[in-house]
Amino acid sequence: MPTTSVPTAEIRDVLHRDLLALADLPDDGEPVDQLAHALQAATLAVADGAGPVLVAAALLHDVGRLAHVAAALPGAPHERAGAVYVTRHVGAEAGWLVGAHVMAKRALVATDPGYRATLSPTSVRTLAEQGGPAADAELARFLRHPRAGNAMRVRRWDDLAKDPAARTLTPEQALDAALGQRPC
Ligand SMILES: [Fe+2]
Repeated sequence: MPTTSVPTAEIRDVLHRDLLALADLPDDGEPVDQLAHALQAATLAVADGAGPVLVAAALLHDVGRLAHVAAALPGAPHERAGAVYVTRHVGAEAGWLVGAHVMAKRALVATDPGYRATLSPTSVRTLAEQGGPAADAELARFLRHPRAGNAMRVRRWDDLAKDPAARTLTPEQALDAALGQRPC
């Protein structure tokens, strides 16, 4: 399977619809809704010079929280459901990054002494539910992956994307960047 593909207009429409639907999700204690969170993460990725795959992963990293996306993988955590969705609609590389964004958090907690202090209270709470800091064997396995560094980049944009005053790309601009398209 190719890691990137040219999206059809239909796929872009699906992504656009589901991106906007993130605004209807509960904020789970964070100061921004899930659409603002997604747009901020994508905006940070673009500002950091990231290419389309990383922007797509940043933009869609929490899409697995949508009920219809979660329903495709019953009982799975949101990053696994999101990975399936993003792999199908964007490509395997972006999908892998989405699936790795929780493991990247656990790896960063285990390797960066200052990282935990950057997490929101909600993210600290969910860390325990997600398994806590990565243990030695799983940490080593993750860090050996050639895309682990990119997964941690996505994770840091995710962590920063909770500023109620941040200015962001519009959903359409973010999708353009994520899909490697020129703004229309
Ligand atoms: Fe997130």
